Amino acid sequence: MTGFSYPQDMWNKRFSTPDYVFGEQPNAFLVSQSARLGHGHALALADGEGRNSVWLAQQGFTVDAFDFSAVAIEKAKNLAEKQKVNVNFNCNAWQDFDWKTSHYDLIAGIFFQFATPDERAELFEKIKKSLRSGGVLLIQGYGKNQLMFKTGGPDRPEHLYDEELLRQAFSDFDVLVCETYETTLQEGVCHSGMSALIGFVARKP
Ligand SMILES: C[S@@+](CC[C@H](N)C(=O)[O-])C[C@H]1O[C@@H](n2cnc3c(N)ncnc32)[C@H](O)[C@@H]1O
Repeated sequence: MTGFSYPQDMWNKRFSTPDYVFGEQPNAFLVSQSARLGHGHALALADGEGRNSVWLAQQGFTVDAFDFSAVAIEKAKNLAEKQKVNVNFNCNAWQDFDWKTSHYDLIAGIFFQFATPDERAELFEKIKKSLRSGGVLLIQGYGKNQLMFKTGGPDRPEHLYDEELLRQAFSDFDVLVCETYETTLQEGVCHSGMSALIGFVARKP
């Protein structure tokens, strides 16, 4: 692990509660895009307690997921068992995950704004390489106005997104959705209340 990020022990502590701190239900933007997600192999990155990977498995995807919190992975495994689906969970920091080349039909990144701008560039490159041609990338993140709401997400402006940042980062992709919006999130105690969000869906050529 390099650079700024919430350290593992802090995330482990945050997840050390019987409740699912981001809820057991999938992210609303991910669900809203179900018609664009396709099928096949999916990766849920920094998947936390498994709400999104489990939902993707319920949609018929073969799902890999990773997160660096062992506590979160344990809860994710319990959620998958409860929902009677299989997910290949990996306890890895993103730098250590085995990113297979041209492998995934879908990569879903929901609220993974722990990376510094330099780290983010590296992480985005790994995402690009790991998608197969024609594969879909879905990102849900907080926008710059989230600093006013303080209802979740990083408090460092350089970790927040705007449309230009995402369009530039994936300028070689076909952008299907790139929208900035404000809505009330109810995704567990950690993401609750009026929020400034960005939803992004793009296809690798
Ligand atoms: C805001 S939570 C979102 C979790 C999940 N995507 C969701 O929407 O429910 C961010 C997640 O990133 C994970 N994380 C933070 N830094 C990480 C890193 N360097 N490598 C892998 N996972 C990391 C945390 O453990 C946490 O589960």
